Amino acid sequence: MAPAAIELRGIDKRFGEVHANRDVSLAVRRGTIHGIVGENGAGKSTLMGILYGYYQPDRGEILVRGRPAVIRSAQDALAARIGMVHQHFMLVEPFTVLENVVLGMEGGFRLRAGLARARAELARLGREYHLEVDPDARVADLSVGQRQRVEILKALYRDAELLILDEPTAVLTPQEADHLFRVLASLRREGKTVLLITHKLREIREVTDVVTVMRQGRVVATLATTETTPEQLAELMVGRTVSLRVDKEPARPGDAVLEVTDLVVADSLGVERVKRVSFTVRRGEIVGVAARAPSSGTTTRPPTTARSGSAALRSRRASIDRSPSTTFGPATARSPRRRSRAATSRRSCWPASSTGTPISS
Ligand SMILES: Nc1ncnc2c1ncn2[C@@H]1O[C@H](COP(=O)(O)OP(=O)(O)O)[C@@H](O)[C@H]1O
Ligand SMILES: [Mg+2]
Repeated sequence: MAPAAIELRGIDKRFGEVHANRDVSLAVRRGTIHGIVGENGAGKSTLMGILYGYYQPDRGEILVRGRPAVIRSAQDALAARIGMVHQHFMLVEPFTVLENVVLGMEGGFRLRAGLARARAELARLGREYHLEVDPDARVADLSVGQRQRVEILKALYRDAELLILDEPTAVLTPQEADHLFRVLASLRREGKTVLLITHKLREIREVTDVVTVMRQGRVVATLATTETTPEQLAELMVGRTVSLRVDKEPARPGDAVLEVTDLVVADSLGVERVKRVSFTVRRGEIVGVAARAPSSGTTTRPPTTARSGSAALRSRRASIDRSPSTTFGPATARSPRRRSRAATSRRSCWPASSTGTPISS
């Protein structure tokens, strides 16, 4: 059998009193999407930090494609063809996508011929892995999902064979997460290996081939994903039987606290972003606002003024008549005491003009 893309043997790591990784052994097969799940603090990020050269293990061994490797820095990791997609992106905002991708590479972006080559390579990677992004867009203007694509492109551009993604969907909308999963599937199709850290069981089931469960620094199981159930994974994660059902008490909504009627909001270019939205928020309930994310390429400009409609906060009524003085965002955000007391019910509202279908995840 071909050697594992990466193998960890007996990895141990302490931070003072905290024993973050305990005798962790793990083999990740080439061309698979390997998930690592575990509760907060289980030691997942520490383990990934060790693979990426951010931390040094106190004990243990790393094998890359069957050969012992010492990884002391991100450069060592890249030399071993391990690429990390950071949770907090490490991109330079004022630079373009292309500049960010070549930044730090030999020659940098000063060489024109090099840049042209990089541009062509970026286009190829974009097509191959569903990672299309405008190479000339400034990173500052990109959505979070697009920035993540740039991070992945950066790793691929540096020839990474194994990609580590640590909680990549934490910052994404459900649509962006679905796109990411398509990207991961195409990486696997091209023979790349993916290590996906998550604590979301749905993601494990949807995209991984194999899943390793960590608890309190240890590996407690490595299983074929198809042979697991969410209940079993949750149990392994926390170490006792768990119910995945959320017990919700029925709501006992009180008086209306906020009433919004026919609200219209335009952005700085005068484009209507909120079109005649009406809803009521009652005391003692949680109201969710759901909508589809803008399609990629749409740049959202900050809203300026509410154009028309009215919003009443408790007894105060603010009528909005193209007057910039009646903004009520800060007023609603200012009552944390009320917010914490209001945690008894959940309800969703849909913009009156929404054409999308309800989305659940
Ligand atoms: N740099 C650090 N210094 C001290 N303690 C740390 C450090 N990084 C992580 N830890 C601790 O190690 C344990 C494992 O953390 P982490 O690997 O981040 O878990 P996970 O990613 O599974 O949530 C936690 O108790 C955490 O507080
Ligand atoms: Mg973590």
